[in-house]
Amino acid sequence: MLPVYYISTIVLLTTLTDPVSGDATTSSNACPFNSVSATYFSQYNVITTGDFSSTSDVENQTIVCGSLKSNQANYCIHIDQNNFNAKSPCLEINGALPSGGGSPNVQVGSVSVGSNPVHTLTKKGTTQYQIDQLQFNLNGGNQGATAFVDSNLPSKCAAITSGLQTLSSSLFQITPNNNATIPSGQPSPLNLNVNNVDSNGIAIFNLSGSSVLANKYVQQIQININNANCKFILINLYGTAVNFNQGNLVGSWITNLNGRAKTLWNCPQATTMNLQQNLQGALLAPNAVVQASSNIDGATAVKSLTTQSELHNPPIQFPCLAAVEKAPVSTLSSTTPKATTTSTVAPTTTTSTTNFTYFILQKRMQNVHGSQSLIIVLYARERYRILSERLQCQRRRRPPLKPPLHQLLLQQQQRLLLLQV
Ligand SMILES: *[C@@H]1O[C@H](CO)[C@@H](O)[C@H](O)[C@H]1NC(C)=O
Ligand SMILES: *[C@@H]1O[C@H](CO)[C@@H](O)[C@H](O)[C@H]1NC(C)=O
Ligand SMILES: *[C@@H]1O[C@H](CO)[C@@H](O)[C@H](O)[C@H]1NC(C)=O
Ligand SMILES: *[C@@H]1O[C@H](CO)[C@@H](O)[C@H](O)[C@H]1NC(C)=O
Repeated sequence: MLPVYYISTIVLLTTLTDPVSGDATTSSNACPFNSVSATYFSQYNVITTGDFSSTSDVENQTIVCGSLKSNQANYCIHIDQNNFNAKSPCLEINGALPSGGGSPNVQVGSVSVGSNPVHTLTKKGTTQYQIDQLQFNLNGGNQGATAFVDSNLPSKCAAITSGLQTLSSSLFQITPNNNATIPSGQPSPLNLNVNNVDSNGIAIFNLSGSSVLANKYVQQIQININNANCKFILINLYGTAVNFNQGNLVGSWITNLNGRAKTLWNCPQATTMNLQQNLQGALLAPNAVVQASSNIDGATAVKSLTTQSELHNPPIQFPCLAAVEKAPVSTLSSTTPKATTTSTVAPTTTTSTTNFTYFILQKRMQNVHGSQSLIIVLYARERYRILSERLQCQRRRRPPLKPPLHQLLLQQQQRLLLLQV
């Protein structure tokens, strides 16, 4: 086992230099998904920044940043055991667990919980862990699945919560390049005609949520691909109450997994959503309290979600993506043997070539279960805002790390530029 070093780095924000003047701008063909939050989004089947309650199935990975409210559900039921590190969490819960017992099933992978509130974890057997009053069946226990406290979960959740807000509102500001034909007065199909795409192959719509998903004249919602260069469809829906109670989604794009992975319903204004119809494609509604009584076929990132129905694949696939190569990894429990090498550099200041100043707060190498990670914690200051992000770049091999640090920082800096509202 390698020695473990922990060197804390404390940098007061007051040591930051004066804000740099001027606005940073993004080029017109910049990737709108080039952010850490988009990277997180692409890793999960379900993200709730608040509470989650399901009495049914979730096919892929789940992160609950608030509390889990249901005692019984099946998680990770469609993940290939051979393709998933059993020690990695497939279900992450930052907040409280429900009282009153219950035995959720986690088909593949581990369960992690946050450090606040404090949880009681008891191993009951190779495939059974009790956490507080819930008895989790970890069916990957023989492959190494476990339950552990992840002290990084609160900060990860904070990053996800603010990041998804920013992502949703920045996507909402993109000028639409396509129109829909929406029935009014006579029942007929609603057509989302994809005629134009931007330089990243993205078709953008900007529509009223109620006129599309809760319009009594809509017989079906048809997505028509008239442009072969279409790589992704962004459907921005405005309105504070977005309900889905009229029309089925049709057309070969959306009825196929591939198209569903490349369609995003973005609802930044929605504070409530009631989904009675089967939504297909990914849903981003970071301010919405969502109730679903029908399945959602696509990645779902919302404020809170209560459902008795299934939450299905596929994960979202963006047409262009962040510099971050790979999923940020969670730290594993102290009860699991691990080898961690940590080294910290003194904070440095680098004035970038753009209107950013950033500070490396921490740079450390981590070796967890044989995989090598470079973790850079940095703060960047852009005019009057301080952005903090954490970039983790997981690598399988030992050093030398590629890409070199300066390249990673450059990418990180570009990403921060894109995070601006
Ligand atoms: C989307 O449509 C709404 C309502 O017409 C409008 O206020 C908003 O500016 C539009 N957004 C964009 C990016 O064009
Ligand atoms: C959408 O329709 C409006 C009204 O007909 C038109 O002004 C606009 O140019 C159209 N936008 C696109 C991207 O086709
Ligand atoms: C489920 O998640 C795993 C791990 O994140 C991913 O590799 C896989 O593609 C997902 N499964 C499906 C069917 O999309
Ligand atoms: C900083 O922002 C200003 C105003 O947008 C711009 O003119 C200038 O080129 C930027 N500087 C750099 C180095 O990017």
